[in-house]
Amino acid sequence: MAIPSRENRMNRSKRFHIQTFGCQMNQHDAQKMANLLFHDGWAPADQVEAADLVVIHTCSIREKAEHKLYTELGWLLQRKQAEPELVVGVGGCVAQQEGEALLRRFPALDFVFGSQNLLHLPELAREAGARRRGLRVDYDDDPQARFELPELHPEFASTSPGRAFVTVMEGCDLFCAYCVVPRTRGREVSRGSDRILAEVGALAAGGVTEVTLLGQTVNAYGRSRPGMAQGEIGFADLLRRVAEVPGIRRIRFTSPHPSFVSGDLVEAYRDLPQLCPHLHLPVQSGSDRVLQAMNRRYDRASYVDIVARLRSARPGIALTTDLIVGFPTETDADFRETLELMREVRFTDSFSFKYSERPGTPAARRGLGELDPAEVQARLLQVQALQAELTLEAHRARVGGRTDVLVDGQSRRGASHFCGRDPHNRLVNFSAASDIAQGAYADVTIDGYTPHSLLGREVAPAR
Ligand code: 5AD
Ligand code: SF4
Repeated sequence: MAIPSRENRMNRSKRFHIQTFGCQMNQHDAQKMANLLFHDGWAPADQVEAADLVVIHTCSIREKAEHKLYTELGWLLQRKQAEPELVVGVGGCVAQQEGEALLRRFPALDFVFGSQNLLHLPELAREAGARRRGLRVDYDDDPQARFELPELHPEFASTSPGRAFVTVMEGCDLFCAYCVVPRTRGREVSRGSDRILAEVGALAAGGVTEVTLLGQTVNAYGRSRPGMAQGEIGFADLLRRVAEVPGIRRIRFTSPHPSFVSGDLVEAYRDLPQLCPHLHLPVQSGSDRVLQAMNRRYDRASYVDIVARLRSARPGIALTTDLIVGFPTETDADFRETLELMREVRFTDSFSFKYSERPGTPAARRGLGELDPAEVQARLLQVQALQAELTLEAHRARVGGRTDVLVDGQSRRGASHFCGRDPHNRLVNFSAASDIAQGAYADVTIDGYTPHSLLGREVAPAR
């Protein structure tokens, strides 16, 4: 979390700390929460030990993620015994799911609030200071209300220099069999495009050059419009308008669903140089039978077809994905189809997960049970080993090429070494003759690679 200038911090006596788990949507919500607290007179604490208010901002996508809450909360509530004035709140997806049950289970916990109730955080914190416990997990009657948050103070707007997230939609209506998100984030709602473009414009005016558009099914943007003005635009048009904002050099988005990769979106990859040549397109499995059991709404052939169309619209585009192994009923033959799909598409990278049953999901309700954990672990290791090969191959193919790096800062490789991301979203470590500021772009030739990054040297300052 960015730390406000000393001047802003000196006059503020109360400090907060937000511990965030989970996805980029959660990271961005943490920025919004910090901003709200800041407007209410709080300052960020450098360390959790120095905070008067600690918010645990939770994720419930897999059981392991949910467990982090209970570990953190255990520590904090123990600390609270010695420091009774410490205020502890729980937000995010577990808060939304568990609600009042959390307050009942942890009598020392001060408040609980859901992902759509961020606006209430300052009030909950104040009430807790007056020893009143609070619960806010209700959905607002006006679905657009969640987007009506104050503009982010520059201190909280950027995730790293030059880059920022922008929420374009929230929620999910697809109900994949394994997924808890529709229960934690609610129904799909798109944000008005005028608000989105105004926010991108303000970020660009403040020096942001790369925006990542966020939504649980981001490319379904414009499809569900409760409370939204008529005549709204679809996702590909939104990308075109964002690309017109002066100062925006790079556009990314996450997470798309294959079912909404329209012809328009493929054309945007052909037409918009600002749209980065990288797409993280979760496939989950290579087996049609498993995809159907997961309720993914596409089959392997249509996924492969999307990949072909994207590669023809934007040669060299980097494709990354998410994979789940051990979904209930997945056979060895199903699993081998996932490995074959990985080889066929040659993903640059992937996140792979063991299936984790989540309460209330369609798969949990079907009561299919879980596969043998040793078998699932073995499958995960095979996916990871294959991915390591594919990533190395993708990195090797980049050697000798040139790329544009948005600099995050000095790299651990030593003085005059820097690191950042290229348009393909690869981490690049490179050397340069002179210092380079964070948030600047560098023109780099690639002369090597590691399993996790590309290596290179700056050719000529592109600033
Ligand atoms: N078990 C395992 N992985 C899951 N994911 C979502 N729900 C589950 C679950 N119940 C994975 C999917 C998704 C990513 C964000 O997390 O791969 O794309
Ligand atoms: Fe975790 Fe999903 Fe919630 Fe993001 S939306 S925090 S991934 S459960």
